[in-house]
Amino acid sequence: MDASLKEQTYKRVTREILSVIEGEDNLTARMASLVCLLHHAFDYYFWTGFYVPDPNKDAELVVGPYQGTLGCLRIPFGTGVCGVAAEKGETQIVADIHSFPGHIACDFNSKSEIVVPVYDRDKNLIGVFDVDATSLGAFDEIDKSHLETLLATVFSE
Ligand code: SME
Repeated sequence: MDASLKEQTYKRVTREILSVIEGEDNLTARMASLVCLLHHAFDYYFWTGFYVPDPNKDAELVVGPYQGTLGCLRIPFGTGVCGVAAEKGETQIVADIHSFPGHIACDFNSKSEIVVPVYDRDKNLIGVFDVDATSLGAFDEIDKSHLETLLATVFSE
């Protein structure tokens, strides 16, 4: 996707998301609305969703609101791209998931992905936001900067 169109689309969808969730404090409703609007805004978003820490299990993520094909249900911290993002607290951009050690293949069509850790106001990890694409190298610094800002605005402020 052309960089300037990508920028414009992130700006437009960010406004839509903030408008839709205004006044809604339920976490699941906020996550589900953000996922839906982003997933349908970009053709290259193939799987879009959250994995959240399971309060009943130590260091394990469980699938949250998502759109796309069937996702894996559980991912241990430190495993796969999501587990590494959760453990390190850093956004992961993976241009070719088959080159990522321990990658978890939920759908063999996925080829590249971005995973952004998400925090609440008190800086507790409340999940990771994961987007997969069916093309190699779909995600870049534009995706990273817009998604990090949007997720911080929606969940940390
Ligand atoms: N690819 C991810 C697993 C989740 S799915 O792609 C939906 C990972 O390695 O963390």
